[in-house]
Amino acid sequence: MKRFFPLSILLIFTACSNQTQTHHYNGEKLTQEKCAACHNLDMPPKTSDTEKAPPLYTVTVHLKEWMAEGANPSDVESKFTSFVKSYVIYPDRDNSYCTKEMLDKYGLMPSQKGNVTEEELDAIAQYIFNRYDQMKLLEIMQEHAKIAAMPPAEQVLAIKDCKMCHVAAGGKIAPTFAQIGKKYQTQGTVPIIKAITHGSKGAWPQYTIPMRAYTDLTPKQLEGIAKYILSKGKKK
Ligand code: HEC
Ligand code: HEC
Repeated sequence: MKRFFPLSILLIFTACSNQTQTHHYNGEKLTQEKCAACHNLDMPPKTSDTEKAPPLYTVTVHLKEWMAEGANPSDVESKFTSFVKSYVIYPDRDNSYCTKEMLDKYGLMPSQKGNVTEEELDAIAQYIFNRYDQMKLLEIMQEHAKIAAMPPAEQVLAIKDCKMCHVAAGGKIAPTFAQIGKKYQTQGTVPIIKAITHGSKGAWPQYTIPMRAYTDLTPKQLEGIAKYILSKGKKK
């Protein structure tokens, strides 16, 4: 028995640290619920003439820069968290890191006292600190540029999960693209696009799971993936 002891200790520690890290508060969901009414949450950030507040990306990166100045890098997150926790409850013109022009433009942030608890704010601050980051934005933008440069069919395969069922499973959980392409050789792209945008159920009785609808693909991407599927079904 003795040799199992270190492993169980390790497991206990892992379990504990996981628990303190997440508290069972979901920072992403809370930020959506408590902050999105005024702050845009996208990465890259979106701005508009009618926005009520600067995007949370801008706010966070700006604050992180201020707080990093002359500080020990390992202290920045706790400085950031305590500032956010206090500002959201007690917004204060004199305490704000916003420029005077920004404060005049948006007005002071209304106190969120009563809308959000201290524990929720902890989770929110931790989440936004890690999410909104210049290097991460750069990576996301590079990834976007890389995907935008691909042909439309490859874009779909890069951003969606089609391959998981139609390619990797080798015909075990869904028809292969070659089988689908063959079936629609004479009808062309229209029924294929319809299946993707509406979902599909019962067309292939040997497969028991239905396919969900994909509603956010562009017409170009749909046309591209449909032609790709047809090309897979051509006799070689
Ligand atoms: C009712 C609208 C509204 C809501 C809801 C709101 N904010 Fe704001 N927030 C603003 C405005 C307006 C500003 C810009 C003026 C200012 O700094 O006070 C701002 C600024 C901030 C700042 C920047 C302070 C500074 O000095 O740079 C932080 C941090 C912030 N908000 C965090 C949050 C978080 C976190 C939430 C969600 C818990 C949230 N806000 C919800 C309107 C809002
Ligand atoms: C979770 C697994 C799964 C994923 C992910 C998936 N599919 Fe499917 N797909 C299926 C199954 C299963 C069927 C057969 C459903 C049926 O019987 O009607 C199907 C059917 C189809 C059909 C229609 C077949 C017909 O005969 O009408 C097309 C076209 C298709 N999928 C394309 C795609 C594309 C493109 C994607 C990604 C955007 C995708 N699928 C993602 C499982 C999946």
